[in-house]
Amino acid sequence: LPLALTALGATLLTGCQQANQTLSIGDMSSGYNREIFWMSVWAIALSIIIFIGVSYALFYTVNKFREDKHDAPPAQFHGNNRLEVILVVVPVIIVVFLSVLTVRSMARLNPTPQNVVNIDILSRQFWWNFAYPEAPAAAGGVVTNGNEIIIPTRQQVALTITSGDVIHGFWAPNIGGQRHALPGTRRTWQVDTDRPGAYQGNCSQLCGASHANMRYKVVALEPERYNTFITAARAYRAPEPAPSSAEARGYTLFMQGKTSTGALSCAACHRVQGTPAAGAAGPDLSFFGTRRTLGAGMWEGERAREMLHEWIKHSPLVKPGSLMPTYDGSEYRVNGKVQKGGVLTDAEIDDVSAYLRSLKLPEEADYWQGTP
Ligand code: CUA
Repeated sequence: LPLALTALGATLLTGCQQANQTLSIGDMSSGYNREIFWMSVWAIALSIIIFIGVSYALFYTVNKFREDKHDAPPAQFHGNNRLEVILVVVPVIIVVFLSVLTVRSMARLNPTPQNVVNIDILSRQFWWNFAYPEAPAAAGGVVTNGNEIIIPTRQQVALTITSGDVIHGFWAPNIGGQRHALPGTRRTWQVDTDRPGAYQGNCSQLCGASHANMRYKVVALEPERYNTFITAARAYRAPEPAPSSAEARGYTLFMQGKTSTGALSCAACHRVQGTPAAGAAGPDLSFFGTRRTLGAGMWEGERAREMLHEWIKHSPLVKPGSLMPTYDGSEYRVNGKVQKGGVLTDAEIDDVSAYLRSLKLPEEADYWQGTP
């Protein structure tokens, strides 16, 4: 029990002191984590009591019946009904007690889907798409965002996960338990947090060359701010670039590619809400300019900005196993098959970057605002 109490104290302390980005299953801002924690405390406390009881009985017996304490053999007897009843009844009580706790926790962690925010997760090598099925976009389809998932605080969030290729695992420990993403299967579970902020999420199932580069951010917003985000995201249409601007040149390349040099269009694989780009082979880029991360969480902030050029130029070079084509003419592989990359000049890549950066949610819906 002292051990359990120490563990409890330590976890509570770390839970309070967590910087937002630190991975921790001891983050007590999440009701999911609290539930699991208290169940663990019961299980560990009972284990310790049983351990002490059994050890005591063992040492007591060994000591009491030591050979050098007795001249004659001890009294011989057969069976002990009282002891046998105790040895059956006590473990049964403990097992039933733990079962009740487990079933209660399961019911609490998977309540019937009422008053929940639903988010669909698609995982693929090596990125994520988060879709909000209850938020039909004015421009058609539903609101989708790649590699950054926005959730409201103080509300149950029902996540439904599937995989487009191999098995992946969704795990953002600060908001609740992990689940596997299985191709052809949809699984739903619920997570939650009381504390706004950005949390780290990772793929938790070894899934290929860039498993370690398959990350995402969970941004938890106060319910009012979440509503502002989802309302703006619904109404969002990618801004029209000004004629003959860098963005406009980037737009044309994005939508049409550059057939003369074999450079495929970005729109073939990526979706941008409110434009003809409706590709589904890569992450949604609708709010790219609002995002802080690049390459499924490989880079953040300023570094992500710096890396965008490199990323477009030859993503498979900077991210092993990336299925995105190269745009420097070098060869890349898709499922083991060698493909010849297209060619974009550095100036053209900068135009595409400028277009991507212009894809911004309105200021008030910028979910990163106020997040360290
Ligand atoms: Cu996906 Cu590891």
